[in-house]
Amino acid sequence: MKRVITVIAAFVLVALITVSAQAESKGEQLFAQKCAACHVVNGKGGKLGPELTGIAIRMGGKDLQEKLENPKKSNPKSFMPSFKTLPKADMDALLDYLKTLK
Ligand code: HEC
Repeated sequence: MKRVITVIAAFVLVALITVSAQAESKGEQLFAQKCAACHVVNGKGGKLGPELTGIAIRMGGKDLQEKLENPKKSNPKSFMPSFKTLPKADMDALLDYLKTLK
């Protein structure tokens, strides 16, 4: 009986984790994986790059995409990696997320 309860508890836990993970948009998840090591948004993230809270006020969608595909174009000394090889769906999701940062 104890074992059954443990198994049920484990299922409930996995379900809860799945639900909370889905609460984040795909773009937000991608940002957490690929960008947050260097960029702060809303107080969370690394400080190697500039804070991106409010980036959508300063940069439009086209500029943002260009920055992600070719960071050195606007800043030849940039050590930000290029994300040109991201699948289009991921790039779109990321850009959609960045555009919410106002
Ligand atoms: C290895 C660290 C690093 C990673 C990872 C990184 N960046 Fe950057 N990023 C930088 C640095 C450093 C700069 C500032 C120099 C420059 O302009 O390129 C920068 C600049 C930017 C800018 C321009 C900000 C401004 O105020 O002009 C944007 C937008 C940006 N990054 C978005 C992203 C996004 C989105 C990701 C994830 C897909 C990402 N970065 C991943 C280091 C990083």
